Amino acid sequence: MPVANPNSRIYFDYNATTPLSPGAIEAVTATMRDQFGNASSVHRFGQQAKARLDEARSEVAALAGADPSEIVFTSGGTEADNFAIRGAADAAEPTGRRHLVASAIEHEAVLNTLRALARRGWAVTLLPVDQSGIVDPARLRDAITSETSLVSVMHANNEIGTIQPIAELAAIAREHGALMHTDAVQSGGKLPLDARALGVDLLSLSAHKFNGPKGAGALFVRRGTRMLPILTGGKHERNRRAGTENVPAIAGMGVAAAEARGKLAAESVRLAALRDRLETGVLAAVPGTAVNGDPARRVPNTTNISFDRVEAESLLIALDLEGIAVSTGSACSSGTLEPSHVLRAMGLPPHRTQNSLRFSLGLFSTAAEVDRLLEVLPGLVEKLRGLTRRPQPARTSS
Ligand SMILES: Cc1ncc(COP(=O)(O)O)c(C=O)c1O
Repeated sequence: MPVANPNSRIYFDYNATTPLSPGAIEAVTATMRDQFGNASSVHRFGQQAKARLDEARSEVAALAGADPSEIVFTSGGTEADNFAIRGAADAAEPTGRRHLVASAIEHEAVLNTLRALARRGWAVTLLPVDQSGIVDPARLRDAITSETSLVSVMHANNEIGTIQPIAELAAIAREHGALMHTDAVQSGGKLPLDARALGVDLLSLSAHKFNGPKGAGALFVRRGTRMLPILTGGKHERNRRAGTENVPAIAGMGVAAAEARGKLAAESVRLAALRDRLETGVLAAVPGTAVNGDPARRVPNTTNISFDRVEAESLLIALDLEGIAVSTGSACSSGTLEPSHVLRAMGLPPHRTQNSLRFSLGLFSTAAEVDRLLEVLPGLVEKLRGLTRRPQPARTSS
């Protein structure tokens, strides 16, 4: 059952961020109020904070299919991705394996980290994706060499929701002695996760994508993986990440992880039904629309739809004026009119890459909200198309 929406506006941008669950809010505030101690302190205050950290570590480990000792808390998904790539690269540097492989549709947290390493002389190969946004494992076989130290391919894409064949890719990485990282920021809490079954060495999570607070994330580091810390200082997080832990946010992440795991099966079914209602409704009511991504291999809450002859940014603003929040792709690149690098990598023509909207649903989404969208969207599209209609060439009789 969806919880009552605390906000009368309609929010279909859960892949950008999610509202906190009531349980996560309670965990954050109770920890701020009652467990202010430093988790490294020996006295009672410290031990109480440490107990909160340990509880959260167990819950996040359970969400990822990991052992609690393999969870390193970070400040979010961006830091988890940075730690995975830079930490593995720094550890591999002395071996001379200075080649990294990733997919072309990774989040900027991965792509810009790879660009930074490329500036330091690392070789980087970006794997292409097919028309539905999936990496063919054969492309990894072509690209990987004995110099490759790390392969990084996201589990689910933030813009189109497409799920990658991570277990197959990880097996290839392992055969070649490379580490495998997956950015699971968009699948954590949406798909069952099992780091061991996926065969990955490193897996990134971010609390604010599954109804936890912003500023908390985690990297699963498989036991025995050689990594150097990117934040140096004290001996926190088993010497993997220095700095006093953000215990309130981490406690909120722990509760959100437990809740997400508990309701994952039911929520997947509920959200997929709502997403399908939205998608089929839009396709039926608005001519000149098409879904981007793989119709089957995707997370249950996401659809990405192109609207012919409408600038996505204008439609986004028109919907916002109607009280409905959607996105033109990744939040980090909105505000610019750059076409999505994800849709471009899929080889879609400009009228699809520039005119697409992402609808992502979650905890508070309801059928009534979807129906409200379907009520207003066709009229808005028609109006915008009328405004942008180009003069038609005069017809000749011959
Ligand atoms: C796939 C993916 N990776 C990484 C991130 C970054 O996570 P955070 O916002 O916690 O830094 C995001 C957030 O947009 C994401 O969607």
